[in-house]
Order: sequence, then structure tokens, then C-alpha cells
Amino acid sequence: MSIADENMETKLNIRPLHPALGAEVTGLDLAVPLAPGTFQALHQAWMDYLVLVFPEQALSDGQQIAFARQFGELEVHHQDIIKSRAAPEIFRVANVDDDGNLMAAGDPSVAQISLAQRWHTDSSYRPIPSMGSILHGIEVTREGGETWFTNMYRVHDALPAALRQQIEGRKARHDFAHLATLAPIKPLTEAERQAMPAVWQPMVRQHPVTGRKSLFISPIYNDAIEGMADEAGLALVAQLAELAGRDEFIYRHRWSPDDVVMWDNRCTMHQVTPYDLAQRRVMHRATIIGDGPVVAA
Ligand SMILES: [Fe+2]
Repeated sequence: MSIADENMETKLNIRPLHPALGAEVTGLDLAVPLAPGTFQALHQAWMDYLVLVFPEQALSDGQQIAFARQFGELEVHHQDIIKSRAAPEIFRVANVDDDGNLMAAGDPSVAQISLAQRWHTDSSYRPIPSMGSILHGIEVTREGGETWFTNMYRVHDALPAALRQQIEGRKARHDFAHLATLAPIKPLTEAERQAMPAVWQPMVRQHPVTGRKSLFISPIYNDAIEGMADEAGLALVAQLAELAGRDEFIYRHRWSPDDVVMWDNRCTMHQVTPYDLAQRRVMHRATIIGDGPVVAA
């Protein structure tokens, strides 16, 4: 593609990847600002497919940030250990430190990043959770390290009546600090703790663009369900996560270097499959701030 994209609309090539969600988009250079018509077509594809995969996009951090900013303002993570020193809007999904050194498997940062091997949606612990995430695979593993995405509209629609009754009108608590109960992460500083107090979010939400209902849970952050004893609440979240993990709802992304994958955090969850921690894995994420608090449906 050329610089002319700024003024001309580009025809997108869209190839669905799975019946539930996911599409590959080619014919676009993400390093170049999108013409308004191209942006609209891309945004519509995002709403239709929930997860978009852009192969062969060798973006710099600055280009990735500029691409992401076309959709909204970006989050700056509240912990120092995860942020890139060079660009605070970049969340480092990596087992390699900011100086390029492979970290030990027991490093608290690796322990934290490895919690992404459980289903979650990014930033659900914020009063205004993220709209979407854009992840650039810079160094990828040959085996494992796949990212799996699940369509939470479909999970909602498939809920058995008994489960549906338990969650309708209910809220779940999302607490970033819950991560510390799951793995030996770096203890949060007082400032980090105060920056992210626990929040209660509706368990069934309405998407602000599509109007559709989806199940909204984020098992790595959920530590309580309104009106339930803690253990019963955690068991319910586990039961919902199991349903969300059914094959029929999942697209599994196997990474190639310079894939950029963009997903909607308002109607999907994702998880990473295990990989050999002796292999380098470096991914840079830009995270788009949501356009408002979660709306109950
Ligand atoms: Fe994530």
C-alpha cells in the first residue's frame, strides 16, 4: 500500500477464519493512516468478526500506537514492570525484559504474563474496561503460545436456563489484585493497589455498538459474585469459563512473526496456550480505552 491511503479508500480483503469469530484482513498497510471510508469498513469488519488478523505488518511501536489511536485513547498500564520504557502506551507481553534479556521462568513478570494462560478479557478491572487490544507478534514461539479467542455473544446465547437465571441482573467483582492469589507475581506497591480498587461489573452486558448481549466475566480477576458466598461465586465463574471454552465458540490463532491481531474486549475472552519458557516470546500490545462504563443488559 502507499501513502495515497490517507486520501483514498482501500478495498479490504476479508477471509473468515472460524464460524464463531475471527477474520484475516489483507490489502491494508497499518503503518499508514486510514482514509475515513477504509476506517469505517475496517470498524464494521471488527464488529462483525470480533477478532481481526493482519499478517505481515512490521510495525514500529510508534506506528502501532498511531494505528490504535484511530479507534480511541490508549491505556497506560498502572504497573511499571509491564510497561515499555520507550513507549508507556505499550504493554509488554514478553518473557524477555526491556533490555532484551530472556527472563528466568520464575521471574515475577513471567509469572504474571503466564496468568494469561487462563481465560480473561483485558482491563476488566478498570471502572471503564478496555474497548479492544491490538497485539503485535514480534518474536513468536514455534510451538505453543497460541492465542485462543471465544465469542461471548454466542456463549451468552448458549447459556442453559439454570445458569442464565443465576447471572441475570447480577454483578461480578473484578480485582487486579486477585492475580496475586493465583501466581507469585511482584507484590503490588501501595500506589498500584490504590490506582486499581476492585470494581463490580454486570455479568451480562450490552455492546455499545452492536447492541448485542454478551456474558462478561474475566476469570483471572473475578474474586466474588454479588449475593453469593466467595467459594460458590468462584465455582460459578469456573463453570461459565468451561462453557466459554467449548470448541464451537473458539478461534485459535497460531502466530507468525509480524502478525497483528486486534480483538474486541467487550464481547470476547482470550487465553494463551503454554509454551517453552526457554523460547523468546515478545509481543507488544496497545490497549484502547472503552467509550464508557459497562452497560448492563
Ligand atoms: Fe490478555
